[in-house]
Amino acid sequence: MYGLLRRLLFLLPAERAHYVAMGLLSAVCATGVGAWLLRKLFVIDDPRLAREVFGIRFPNPVGLAAGFDKDARWIDALACLGFGFLEIGTLTPRPQPGNALPRLFRLPADRALVNRMGFNNGGLAAAVERLRRRRARIVVGGNIGKNKDTPNERAADDYLQGFAALFDVVDYFVVNVSSPNTPGLRALQDKEPLAALLRQLQDTNRARPQPKPILLKIAPDLTDGQLDDVVAIVHETGLAGIVAANTTIARAELATDRAQVEALGNGGLSGAPLRARATEVVRYLRARTKAPIIAVGGVFTAADAREKLEAGADLVQVWTGFIYEGPGIAKRICEGLSRS
Ligand code: FNR
Repeated sequence: MYGLLRRLLFLLPAERAHYVAMGLLSAVCATGVGAWLLRKLFVIDDPRLAREVFGIRFPNPVGLAAGFDKDARWIDALACLGFGFLEIGTLTPRPQPGNALPRLFRLPADRALVNRMGFNNGGLAAAVERLRRRRARIVVGGNIGKNKDTPNERAADDYLQGFAALFDVVDYFVVNVSSPNTPGLRALQDKEPLAALLRQLQDTNRARPQPKPILLKIAPDLTDGQLDDVVAIVHETGLAGIVAANTTIARAELATDRAQVEALGNGGLSGAPLRARATEVVRYLRARTKAPIIAVGGVFTAADAREKLEAGADLVQVWTGFIYEGPGIAKRICEGLSRS
């Protein structure tokens, strides 16, 4: 059924299609019957899939990755699709428009996307309001970043603002220092600035009567040496875990014509071509840490999810897979996992 809808949506520019599709889903969900029907179709309740990770109980291990619902607009609708958890953001303190359009592209021959959104979002205050009003009871992670015009020396202020604003309305946090689309952001993954940033966040967190899990989201383009630094910092700061990985700046071995890919310009590549590298990063990390890992990158099927879990992930997330596989993706992966 999604095949036909996907063909129609793929006629639209990718970003526009995203809003049209989510508008449709929200409209269906806004009617009580629609929400009931969607839940009947897509939510599976299988206690064998439930797990507790960093102190939170997840009904299943398949989540929706950050960037899909940056502004927490569609939580109630997305909660009807069987995900075990949702991650909103990346949110920056102040609203910002992101990069010029077009900035999201499909590579159907590769089952991939390239994006250079640039943290387009409506800012913390608007998202907090929506999160307060949400009705769905689903685990929600808050992915936080910095505004484009905040220099890296003051980046910690932005992350601390995100942490404070979202504290009462999310279940866990993800510190995003790995988007390729905010100039200079990934320099915050270097050892010293990263340790300083995470220490400040953890100190603030620990000053709360009930601290919340804080995870770090990393790029798949880090070297082994940089991954070793990440592990050391996670241990030193007592971070709750790692999200691996964000989109890649690499463009290796794509089926799409090279000139066509180059013409798209800069951006992060996601989807099937990222799968193997993301799994490799998870396996590398797992050999060096017991910290929980959320694996993300190229998960389309139960086999893809199993690959990540067997490499050592505790949970998985999807983004590009949702675009190609449709709203039944979480259910199909969960069904496949519970058969194994
Ligand atoms: C993303 N991703 C992302 N990640 C993040 O931490 N903050 C963000 O704001 C975004 N925004 C975003 C926009 C778009 C259009 C895409 C395609 C992706 C990265 C995403 O969460 C995930 O890490 C990667 O896409 C890899 O997973 P998939 O897409 O291969 O399943």
